Amino acid sequence: MKTLNDLFEHQLKDLYSAEIQLLEVLPEIVENANNKELKQAFEEHLKETKAQKDRIENVLKELGITPRIETCQAMQGLLKEAKNFIEVAEDEELMDVGLIAEVQRVQHYEISGYGTAVRFAKELGYRHIAKTLQETLNEEYDADNTLEKLAENRLNKKVIGGNS
Ligand SMILES: [Fe+2]
Repeated sequence: MKTLNDLFEHQLKDLYSAEIQLLEVLPEIVENANNKELKQAFEEHLKETKAQKDRIENVLKELGITPRIETCQAMQGLLKEAKNFIEVAEDEELMDVGLIAEVQRVQHYEISGYGTAVRFAKELGYRHIAKTLQETLNEEYDADNTLEKLAENRLNKKVIGGNS
C-alpha cells in the first residue's frame, strides 16, 4: 500500500465487507427485539443496510475495483459479540437494552469508517463518490440517534415510574 488511493480502496472494501456481514446478522437482531418501536427501527436499518451495500458496490464498480471480499475483522468481532449476547439474554427487556448497546457499537464503527471514506474521497477529488458515501454516513448517524432516543425514553420511563 503506497498511496492514499490504495488506502481509500482498502477502506471501501472493508466497509463493503462490514455491510455484507451486518446484513446477515440484522434479521436475527430484528427477530429478537421485543419492543415494537425498537423492532421497527432495526427493520428500517435492515432495509437501509441493503441499499448501503448496493451503494458501496456501485462505488467500487465506478472506481474499477473488483468487490472481492476482504473480511472486515472488526465487524466480525462486533457481530460475534452481538450473537453471543442474544444467546445469553434471558429477559425481554434486558434483550432490548442489550441489542441497542450492541447495534450502537456497530453504528459508531460504521460512522467512523464512512467519515474517513468521505474525507478520503474529497481529498482524492471524487466529488460524486464523496456525496454518495455521505448519504450512507447520514443514515448511519440517523440510525444511531434513533437507538439513542429509544434508550433514553426507556430511561425516562424508569425514572418517572420509579422502577430500578
Ligand atoms: Fe451500514
